[in-house]
Amino acid sequence: MVAVAILAAGRGTRMKSSLPKVLHSVGGKSMVERVLDGLADLNPSHTLIVVGFGQDQVKAALAHWPGLTFIEQREQLGTGHAVQQVIPHLEGFDGDLLVLNGDVPLLRPETIQNLVTTHQENGNAATLLTAQFTDPTGYGRVFCTDQNLITEIVEHRDCSPAQRQNPRINAGVYCFNWAQLMTVLPHLSADNDQREYYLTDVVKDLNPAMAVDVADCQEIFGINSRKQLAEAYAMLQDRIKDHWMAAGVTLIDPDSTTIDTTVYLEPDVVIEPQTHLRGKTVVGTGSRLGPGSLIENSQIGADVTVAFSVVSDSTVGSGARVGPYAHLRGQAVVGDGCRIGNFVEIKKSTLGAGTNVAHLSYLGDATLGTKVNVGAGTITANYDGYKKHPTVIGDRTKTGSNSVLVAPVTLGSDVTIAAGSVVRKDAPDNSLVVSRAPQKIYADWQPKHQREEQPKAPE
Ligand code: UD1
Ligand code: CA
Repeated sequence: MVAVAILAAGRGTRMKSSLPKVLHSVGGKSMVERVLDGLADLNPSHTLIVVGFGQDQVKAALAHWPGLTFIEQREQLGTGHAVQQVIPHLEGFDGDLLVLNGDVPLLRPETIQNLVTTHQENGNAATLLTAQFTDPTGYGRVFCTDQNLITEIVEHRDCSPAQRQNPRINAGVYCFNWAQLMTVLPHLSADNDQREYYLTDVVKDLNPAMAVDVADCQEIFGINSRKQLAEAYAMLQDRIKDHWMAAGVTLIDPDSTTIDTTVYLEPDVVIEPQTHLRGKTVVGTGSRLGPGSLIENSQIGADVTVAFSVVSDSTVGSGARVGPYAHLRGQAVVGDGCRIGNFVEIKKSTLGAGTNVAHLSYLGDATLGTKVNVGAGTITANYDGYKKHPTVIGDRTKTGSNSVLVAPVTLGSDVTIAAGSVVRKDAPDNSLVVSRAPQKIYADWQPKHQREEQPKAPE
């Protein structure tokens, strides 16, 4: 049986932020949520989160996560003190306690699982993840026998110059036999440079305490500053991009592309340069996105092209062409094979299959049938300054260039709207709507400064 404690009470002074450190986001997800994701394979008996600084914010951010117990650490007196707070919650617990730092967000589930298995198979009192770093500055140094049995962990600031030469660092990921930890945890002292109770001090009194080097050093990268936050983001991006390329996605220029972990891409998707995929976005096979596009929380079908455009919270059907310079937002639903062209904005509107909105339009709160042709410059006037109103357009209807559809208004199917019309009344199927000033022609007309007499207007 394994219980988990995540240490998330610290302020993260070096972040210089009013947001608790563990809530800072790495690729669209907070650090602490990423740590929780790492528990995917574990099925722990308890998931205890030690909170302190900004605890209301942390609790609110994790409110949707099932099965968490929040434990308050009123004063942040160190990582050892943080784990002492879980003691009342694990009374009579007969298993292992996995301790994770809330600021180490890139750990993989299999690494955690491997640590727990090694711990249990060796019957260890403590097992912890370590790595050999070329630049171990800032981390606690782990001193071991040649059998990887730990003799001591010394924090960077407490190290002698000779001890600082040791490249083996503590990742802040521990598995403890709870009963054995209980023999030492209550007796920690704060006899160090920071006057803090260090969790790392327990290992010298636990036998055997074993160090396990992590295979991929990036996994245990800890975040204490904004610079490290950006570095972690870059590592995560590499990991995500490697994954999708291995799964059959082409990234023309990976360095200029960003992809959130929450995105799903089918094989044979092509991502052009300067393109960013965020949130819960799904892209179907054969689609080509970019260059220069932002797609967030959207479902993109198969064989879609999107160029120099922004698509958020929307759905684009298979075979549709979007852009250049289009903006779909707020639950726009674009049907299969639609064409959405230059300088078109579509908000909270549904377009049937094969409908075209090719140039310079705004559609808001509109429902369009199939094969509608929205002429260049057609605008739905959906807002009267007070409320939004709907526009409904039937199948195969054509709106002339520069027409204004003043909502609420309903046009039937096979309607033709003459160019430049201001449409304020509903139109039945198969009708022609002309709503504009009649054209007048002044024959033989000259500008005023060139003429003596004003010609008469025709009747
Ligand atoms: C810690 C380790 C260090 C290791 C490093 C790995 C100790 C003493 N040192 O150092 O050996 O190399 O992690 O990243 O453990 N926290 C609390 N309550 C507290 C103090 C901290 O909950 O009173 C939480 C923080 O929110 C953070 C985590 O514990 O999530 C680690 O604390 P931090 O101060 O960042 O420790 P490091 O100095 O990085
Ligand atoms: Ca840290």
